[in-house]
Amino acid sequence: MARKPMIAGNWKMYKTAGEGAILVQNLDERVEPYWSRVDVVVCPPFTALKSVSTVIELDRLEIKLAAQNVHWESEGAFTGEVSPRMLVDLRCDYCIVGHSERREMFGETDETVNKKVHALIAAGITPIVCVGESLETRDAGDTERFVREQVRAALDGVDPESAGDIVIAYEPIWAIGTGHTPTPEGANDVCRTIRATVGALFGQPAAIRVRILYGGSAKPENIGLFMPEPDIDGALVGGASLEAASFADMVRTAASFAG
Ligand code: 13P
Repeated sequence: MARKPMIAGNWKMYKTAGEGAILVQNLDERVEPYWSRVDVVVCPPFTALKSVSTVIELDRLEIKLAAQNVHWESEGAFTGEVSPRMLVDLRCDYCIVGHSERREMFGETDETVNKKVHALIAAGITPIVCVGESLETRDAGDTERFVREQVRAALDGVDPESAGDIVIAYEPIWAIGTGHTPTPEGANDVCRTIRATVGALFGQPAAIRVRILYGGSAKPENIGLFMPEPDIDGALVGGASLEAASFADMVRTAASFAG
């Protein structure tokens, strides 16, 4: 079974509600020919989810919507947090969890990532789980062990069927926003380890189904190098997703590698 490629744009803390609505409209014009071959996902900040969701619904776009974070409880006295139920209400299909910026700056841990994964699955939203090593870990030659442990911790207690549906993004921290990337073969080595870890924990069918994205300075100029790698199923894109033209270019390239 061929996995459908995914190109997901993580807008991070960019775009107001109005700017997001315009971006998704501009994007749609350019990516419409590729919908059937590539899952196109946008991840606006919370404040733009409603406007982007409304454009997607009214214009019947096939672009999928993702949040960038979630709390694991469905409601409660958690000032500043947003629950899976609230994301379902906005028709989110996916939600990023465990991005390195949240792990580094906002106290996200393997344990909270795991709680979020369970809460999202229970709500019917597909988690996009981010993993990836720091430069220090890489220099110590510890990348594969470190990433394997992040995957194990994030998916702890998940049922095998749901594990196969999850999306995992391999984002080496040192490649995010720096213009540096691993070689495509080097990125694929870690993605292969991730797939093997899913296989060891949940069985071969889950390993074959799980989609693994590369993230970290992915852009139109290099996406064509990563896509042919056998264990890389797409990209989680930061900076290059903020302009419709560059993001659409990446979707077009991914479509040309789709089976
Ligand atoms: P850049 O593509 O800007 O390096 O960001 C990658 C990222 O963090 C996506 O989640």
